[in-house]
Amino acid sequence: MSEPTKKGLEGTVVAESRTSLVNGQDGKLVYDGYSIETLAENASFEEVAFLLWNERLPNRAELNNLVQVIAYEATLPEGLLAQLKSYPKNADPMAVLRTAVSALAMFDHDSEDNSQEANRRKAIRLTGQITTICAAWDRIRKGNEPIIPRKDLTLAQNFIYMLTGKDPDQTASAAVDTYLVLLAEHGMNASTFATRVTVATGSDMHSGIVSGIGTLKGPSHGGANAEAMHMFLEIGEPENVETWFKKNIKEGDRRIMGIGHRIYKALDPRAAILEQRAEALAKSSGNEKWFQIAKKLADTARADSYFIERKLYPNVDYYSAILLYTINLDVDMFPPLFAMSRVAGWTAHIIEQFANNRLIRPDLNYIGPMGLQWVPVDQR
Ligand code: ACO
Repeated sequence: MSEPTKKGLEGTVVAESRTSLVNGQDGKLVYDGYSIETLAENASFEEVAFLLWNERLPNRAELNNLVQVIAYEATLPEGLLAQLKSYPKNADPMAVLRTAVSALAMFDHDSEDNSQEANRRKAIRLTGQITTICAAWDRIRKGNEPIIPRKDLTLAQNFIYMLTGKDPDQTASAAVDTYLVLLAEHGMNASTFATRVTVATGSDMHSGIVSGIGTLKGPSHGGANAEAMHMFLEIGEPENVETWFKKNIKEGDRRIMGIGHRIYKALDPRAAILEQRAEALAKSSGNEKWFQIAKKLADTARADSYFIERKLYPNVDYYSAILLYTINLDVDMFPPLFAMSRVAGWTAHIIEQFANNRLIRPDLNYIGPMGLQWVPVDQR
């Protein structure tokens, strides 16, 4: 007797974890005991990474040390930089990141060591290196030399520095840091599940992260921030929102990118924080148009019975698109920024998986035919 199929594994619990609690009914998110609101208000990305890897907040000396070690480890091997320079300049940055992280394993003396100590070292190293790959690729594809990370900067500051080659702008670095804090971890999302499935076979951390990046890339997951921005750009002006909504959503078969979530049936708490930050940033930049389009579209959807009945609210990708666009990042760099942050959560889950591992291997209901007779190839 076969079990009923749970399409998309909806509602299936596959692990116990300390990393985060996602409460979809009430719209709450907690990283290892701390609400996302508290962390967004007070924590830096490095503090959050320490929390996820160590299940407690760092003291001052531990935090300073982690900031320095990440900056030190963020330098890329020469061989990898040479590879990056050989990729086609029009390659998708997520494809570049996926390939580069896979290649990084071959330059990492810890890559095949799955001990907890080695995995902690690799978590720190990969967190630094992924940011450097993202910034280096953006420079290389624009015909510029990649920049080596500075040892005196946080990861968010280093990202802006390595993109621009100038002392990092305070506003842009703070916006990136907020983004990194908010996106670092999120329960058993699709990319985290992929990393855990990969390492549960006894494979290594780099392989797990490559699975995570490949899974994050899709428009139903981390690719949605770029898709949301393309949608806002397509709408073009706040006064076009209603016509666009009617034509594409009500009468067409498109989805509003950055709206809807498998778990949240209330407002994603990260979207609430990002809405405020994006609005403040838009005001201070002197260009509120994109925020106004996003806000008007979200309000239009929230007043529509289709969205109300299905409990569809803006998710984390919706207003983060406005935040990242306002600090002048290229739209196709938005998903890599998601990976720059989520690597903290992925690596925490990998460490957790190895601490109590069992092969992850679900089942399926066979619906194919039975008992067919073999026909030799020339008689088919
Ligand atoms: N716009 C319009 N309708 C939507 C949207 C949307 N953004 N999202 C879901 N729906 C509708 C579906 O058409 C479906 O309607 P139906 O029941 O009449 O068929 C219903 O809501 C449920 O949708 P599912 O796709 O079954 O929900 P699921 O939980 O599988 O998908 C998902 C969640 C993929 C996030 C979906 O809401 C979506 O495609 N959103 C847009 C892409 C996006 O923003 N992704 C980022 C998610 S957050 C993250 O990964 C960080």
